[in-house]
Amino acid sequence: MNQDANKQAAAKEAAAYVTEGMAVGLGSGSTVFHLIEELAKNDAVRTTIRAAASSEETAEWAAAAGIATAPFDDFDELDISIDGADEVDAAYQMTKGGGGALLREKFVNDAAKHRITIIDETKRVSELGAYPLPIEIVPYAPKYTAAQIEALGSTARLRYNDTDVDSGSVPYVTDNGNYILDCAFTEPIKDPAKLDEKLQQTLGVVETGLFINRIDTLIIGTSAGVQTETA
Ligand code: A5P
Repeated sequence: MNQDANKQAAAKEAAAYVTEGMAVGLGSGSTVFHLIEELAKNDAVRTTIRAAASSEETAEWAAAAGIATAPFDDFDELDISIDGADEVDAAYQMTKGGGGALLREKFVNDAAKHRITIIDETKRVSELGAYPLPIEIVPYAPKYTAAQIEALGSTARLRYNDTDVDSGSVPYVTDNGNYILDCAFTEPIKDPAKLDEKLQQTLGVVETGLFINRIDTLIIGTSAGVQTETA
């Protein structure tokens, strides 16, 4: 099976955890796109759930699929959240934000009673860090903030809007009006919680793509079938 088929298989498995009337946190990215398609196939679920979407794109996909969304702050808590990831390590720590939606994804994850991560097998790693870590920063001082993060042992690149005609000159802006630094660490991330702590203390950092202890159930689409693990 190819990577996308594995994402789809994981999404299908996760959709089975969503039952009628639930408050559902929807993540972002291509695996979540498959999840929305799967949820939409079940009329009883589709017409009764209420979703908090972690990005404008997800909100649009949900609306097109006939799933009702409401602003995140309308929910006291969510029954379940389902989202993709960029990397998940052996201790179930993960990085997210490849699509730029990490801040709202963290809210949706935080508010959920049951947090499910759905990935294809290429995202399962022994240690985090091969994929540059996205960090959302305030747009005021990207160079200054990048320098502080580089001092922690990384190369921090400002993400640009590659859909712009004059590619390279317009920074990518998140749904929250912030910038993203993609930070490639020179060493694998041995202690994600400690690194997250340091990054959170860095002036200009709004939120990091390190999701520490934020997985209850991990569903992996593999060439040998779907694997479900309890973290
Ligand atoms: C979005 O900002 C990300 O956190 C995604 O969850 C992550 O990049 C996974 O994306 P795919 O499902 O597209 O691989």
